[in-house]
Amino acid sequence: MTIEFTDSADHSVDDHSFPSEHHWGNYQEPKKSHRTAVSAEFELSKFPKTRFYGSKRKQLSWLLHHLQELRGTTVLDAFGGTGTVSLLFSHLGKKVTYNDVFRFQEISAQALLGDLGDVSLYPDRMKMFLATVTPKDGFVTQVFDGLYFKPEENRWLDGVMEKISEKESKAEKAVLLYCLFQACLSKRPYNLFHRANLNIRYSEQPVSFGNRATWEKSFGEHMLLAYSELIRGRKLISNPITVLPCGSVDNLGSDFDIVYMDPPYFNAHRHTESYLTRYHFLEGLARFEEWPNLIDQESKIRGFSERIEPEEWHSKSEFESSLFSAISNFSESTVVLSYVADAYPDEKQITEHFRGTFRQTKVFRQEYQRSLSTRTRTELLFIGKP
Ligand SMILES: C[S@@+](CC[C@H](N)C(=O)[O-])C[C@H]1O[C@@H](n2cnc3c(N)ncnc32)[C@H](O)[C@@H]1O
Repeated sequence: MTIEFTDSADHSVDDHSFPSEHHWGNYQEPKKSHRTAVSAEFELSKFPKTRFYGSKRKQLSWLLHHLQELRGTTVLDAFGGTGTVSLLFSHLGKKVTYNDVFRFQEISAQALLGDLGDVSLYPDRMKMFLATVTPKDGFVTQVFDGLYFKPEENRWLDGVMEKISEKESKAEKAVLLYCLFQACLSKRPYNLFHRANLNIRYSEQPVSFGNRATWEKSFGEHMLLAYSELIRGRKLISNPITVLPCGSVDNLGSDFDIVYMDPPYFNAHRHTESYLTRYHFLEGLARFEEWPNLIDQESKIRGFSERIEPEEWHSKSEFESSLFSAISNFSESTVVLSYVADAYPDEKQITEHFRGTFRQTKVFRQEYQRSLSTRTRTELLFIGKP
C-alpha cells in the first residue's frame, strides 16, 4: 500500500470559533522537510497490515504529521486495538504504555510490542511449528460447524490450539496466537465474526468485499505472512513498551505526558455492533480453556453470553458521559482523541468538552475514501493541552 504524505492531503482547520485562550499559545503547524516525508513513507510500509475495524493503519501518515511535534516522553495508548499507534509513538522515541479491554488484543500487543524475553523470532521457527500441527475434532469443530470456516479448517484450528496450549512460554504462545488471529481475520469475508456467513465462501458469485484467493489460502500460509510482518514491525520499537493486562480505560492511572484515545464510535443514525460481537471468535481463542463456559448457546453466531466491555462503554446512551469523564480524567495530560464525523456524540459536543477541559484545543480533519465504496469518511483529531 502506498501511503500519501503530502501537504495537499491535509485539511486541518483552526477552530476560529474558540475564545482566544483556547487557541494554541505558541503552537506551530508541524513542519515537514522532504527528507522526513520520504523516510516516514519508507518506515510506514513496515507497519503490519492487520485487518481490524477502526485500525489507524491507513491514517498513520496523517497522525505522524500531527503527533511528531507533541512534547512529552510518556504516552498512554488507552484504546490500543492493533497497537499500530503505539508502534508509531515508539518509533517517534516515546515511552509507550498500551491498553485494551480485550484479552486477544493484549496477547497480540504482547507479541507485537512487548518484551518477548528469550524467545527469538528466527525465520524458520513458524514453519517448524506448523509442521507439528495435526487436525483433530474438538471444541471449534463441534460448536462452530457451518458458521465461519470450512469443516477441515475447523479441525485444523482444533489441532493448532492443542499445540499452542502445550507451550509453556507465555511469549511464545503470544507470538503463535498473534499469527493465528491474523490468519483468522484474513480468511473471513469482511474480516469479521458478527455474521455466520460461511455460505459466501461456497458461493460462485463475484464478491466486492474481499478476495476469494485470500480466503482459500491455508491458515498456515497466512500465519507465515503474519510472522514476517511481526518480525518487521517489531524493528520499529525504540523503547521498551509496557503492555497492560486487558482492562477498561476507566481503571488506568493518569500519570502520562500524552494520552492517545481512539475509542469505539457509535454511528449517529444506525445501530453499531460492539467490538465483542465483531471479534468474539478471537476472544474465545484467547480464552480457550474457559470458552465453553462463555458461549451463549442461543446465539446464532455462538457469541459470548456476557460482555467483556463495561456496559457504560457499550451502550449508546451512556457512551457520551463515559467518554467525557475519561477525557476529564486525563486533563493534566495532552490528550489526543481520534474520532469520526457522523458519530454520536458529534464534533461540536466534543469540541465544547475539550474547550471546557483544556487550556488549548485544536481540531484537525482529513477525508478518506472508504474502502470498497465511493463514499468518503471524515477523520477528526482533537488535541487538548493542559
Ligand atoms: C477504534 S479501536 C482502536 C484502534 C487502534 N487505535 C488501532 O489503530 O488499531 C477501539 C478499541 O477500543 C477497545 N475498547 C473498547 N472499549 C474499551 C474500554 N472500555 N477500555 C479500553 N479499550 C476499549 C476495543 O477493543 C478496540 O480495540
